[in-house]
Amino acid sequence: AIALKTLLSGTGLVTLDPGFANTAACRSEITYIDGEAGILRYRGYPIERLAEASTFVEVCHLLIHGELPTEQERDALSERLREHADIPDALRDLLNAFPRGAHPMTVLSSAVNTLAAFHADDCDPGDPAQVELATVLLLAKLPTIAAHIHRTSTGQAPVPPDDSLGYVENFLRMAFGPPSGGAGVDPLLSKAMDLLFVLHADHELNCSTATVRVVGSSQASLFASVSAGINALSGPLHGGANQAVLEMLEEIRRVDGDVDSFIKKVKDPDSRTRLMGFGHRVYKNFDPRSKEIKRLAQQILARQGSDELFDLALQLEEKALSDSYFVDRRLYPNVDFYTGLIYRAMGFPTDMFTVLFAIGRLPGWIAHWRELLADPDARIARPRQLYTGPNERDLPAGG
Ligand code: ACO
Repeated sequence: AIALKTLLSGTGLVTLDPGFANTAACRSEITYIDGEAGILRYRGYPIERLAEASTFVEVCHLLIHGELPTEQERDALSERLREHADIPDALRDLLNAFPRGAHPMTVLSSAVNTLAAFHADDCDPGDPAQVELATVLLLAKLPTIAAHIHRTSTGQAPVPPDDSLGYVENFLRMAFGPPSGGAGVDPLLSKAMDLLFVLHADHELNCSTATVRVVGSSQASLFASVSAGINALSGPLHGGANQAVLEMLEEIRRVDGDVDSFIKKVKDPDSRTRLMGFGHRVYKNFDPRSKEIKRLAQQILARQGSDELFDLALQLEEKALSDSYFVDRRLYPNVDFYTGLIYRAMGFPTDMFTVLFAIGRLPGWIAHWRELLADPDARIARPRQLYTGPNERDLPAGG
């Protein structure tokens, strides 16, 4: 119940703020959120407008460089992403060496950390040319690494990048293989994936982005910082929630689709069960991303007729939004509530969902890491604590 407690210590005022709910750790020009009004803007542009009019590659440029690219800048960035999309054979061998059942997020964070070994000359945060190259290398290679992990973990041969394709088409082709009969990648899926990446691209100081900044504040490389961010994202209270939502829906279906019993269980404090994909630290009326994503889910799932899990999700949302437990605590669907259903309809297995989130969030992580580098007020992240252990005491006699 005590969210904020302040004390005067020998070094000044120390605030106890669990989960940093009321602590601003930096100034930032990247993303604006108004949690009461459900507003999200990247560099001043409303998320709804970007979702309508911009591609993910354009949004990468916007977040990282501060402005939407000119046509020439967009083409140049796309070209550099194509140029660096492939990964070294030795990295492929390394990815293949992980045990078959390893979670894709574990493999992904290890692979990103390992990029520092393959690109040791591009790791110096103090060298702008190295920072620029590391940015492109990471954006270019993450989808290739992710697709490789997906193919090998599902017992399929990896598909190399195709430099004639755009960023998202290329990722889907590497993940699912070339469509049969020489057809191109399904444009609806490609547009949906692009949109999901745009909607996930940044969200100010969420847990993983804060982690990237904390690690980066020690002047660790971009690869090391992003690898740490991927680990933070993997938890079920953060990006791992998209996997957890699907598992929750499958569990409800397994017990005869009894939505009422599930809601009752969530409300029972002893059950320690949460309605996954609901609630947000900042949004208290609605999450603007979830509205876009629900619309997209309806569109994608309509193509395959009825979907039992989608129906269960709709029922859960309806019940929760009219139940005082959720209303009083201001719990609404967040970005993860419907995304898993779309990823599943695309053909991704559940344990790949958070990897897809990571690809989308990458430009935000990079933008924050670079903003930190340029911040004259930046200091190594080093929170304080309020010590509650024993006072000085003697060792037990004979110890
Ligand atoms: N289901 C049921 N009850 C919930 C939920 C939920 N999803 N979320 C919060 N609550 C309840 C808590 O039990 C608490 O109740 P109490 O006051 O009776 O103790 C109250 O609402 C406040 O919850 P906190 O955990 O204090 O809220 P916090 O801001 O710390 O956590 C979080 C936010 C982690 C997102 C939380 O709502 C949650 O666990 N949601 C489910 C997991 C999820 O969907 N995570 C993805 C978030 S979006 C993202 O990271 C991309």
